[in-house]
Amino acid sequence: MSTAWTRKDLLTIRELDRADIQLILDTGRTFKNSSANSGKKSTSLEGRTVVNLFVEPSTRTRTSFELAATRLGADVVSIDSESSSFRKGETLKDTGQVLQAMNADFVILRHSAAGAPQFLAERLKAHILNAGDGAHEHPTQALLDVFTMRERLGEKCAWKDLHVVICGDILFSRVARSNVWALTKLGARVTLVGPTTLVPEIFSELGVKITHDLDSVLPDADVIMLLRIQHERQRRSFFPSVGEYVSLFGLNMTRFKKCKPGVLIMHPGPVNRGIEIASELADGPNSTILDQVQNGLAIRMAVLHLLGGS
Ligand code: CP
Repeated sequence: MSTAWTRKDLLTIRELDRADIQLILDTGRTFKNSSANSGKKSTSLEGRTVVNLFVEPSTRTRTSFELAATRLGADVVSIDSESSSFRKGETLKDTGQVLQAMNADFVILRHSAAGAPQFLAERLKAHILNAGDGAHEHPTQALLDVFTMRERLGEKCAWKDLHVVICGDILFSRVARSNVWALTKLGARVTLVGPTTLVPEIFSELGVKITHDLDSVLPDADVIMLLRIQHERQRRSFFPSVGEYVSLFGLNMTRFKKCKPGVLIMHPGPVNRGIEIASELADGPNSTILDQVQNGLAIRMAVLHLLGGS
């Protein structure tokens, strides 16, 4: 398997180039075809220690990183904020030094502060993987999202012909930022949709279109990615009411009828059913929500292998 990779860490999609993204997707494909689904173990990380350090809640990212590292033959330890010495006020720097003293080879960090993975990467010898830092980036989510698009639309899917609409809480979404970087580097067209307060004009500097009218972009979308409203990051109300948000930006059956028949409906999860997406669409044939979860395992095996496997 290819290991033509020179980076120590995976901190952002912004720092990757198109060839890096392509290599991760191709390596993810190899793992998906071999061990990711079958449970067959590889020896890529045999004798290595992987620490999952999750200072914010997670189901998908944490579980799939644990499974990915285990499938690659690593020893895996998971730490969360509630049961660790973070509760006693230990700093991230000191926690990192503790992990280094225990010879951790990889630290996978989810943190509420943007830049926390970069902070550790500058201080530790271990490979640092960003599992979501505040509203900044969530690189493996974007990688599994573009992997899922390519898988569902076919390997011959030309990125330049693809129009991806990302709708919802763009301002606070690390998933949106990482997807914008990944999709624009691959050559896709991206439109961001949401309330004016959650989709500021400054995002157009990233080479994307902005609109506040979801209905106007639905007929031309090949992929619609819905995002969760991140109440935990909002210190004030960014729209008058949930009911108004649903009526303007919720994907429901009436809106779905305006879409192309094969449109992909994506959501990184967790889903607020009945708010950003109707349940019948989340569970319907156009939905890729569980494909995204499944592909997270192959993509996380790929990045662990490329960063430090053999
Ligand atoms: N999409 C995502 O990051 O989900 P979790 O918070 O469950 O990891």
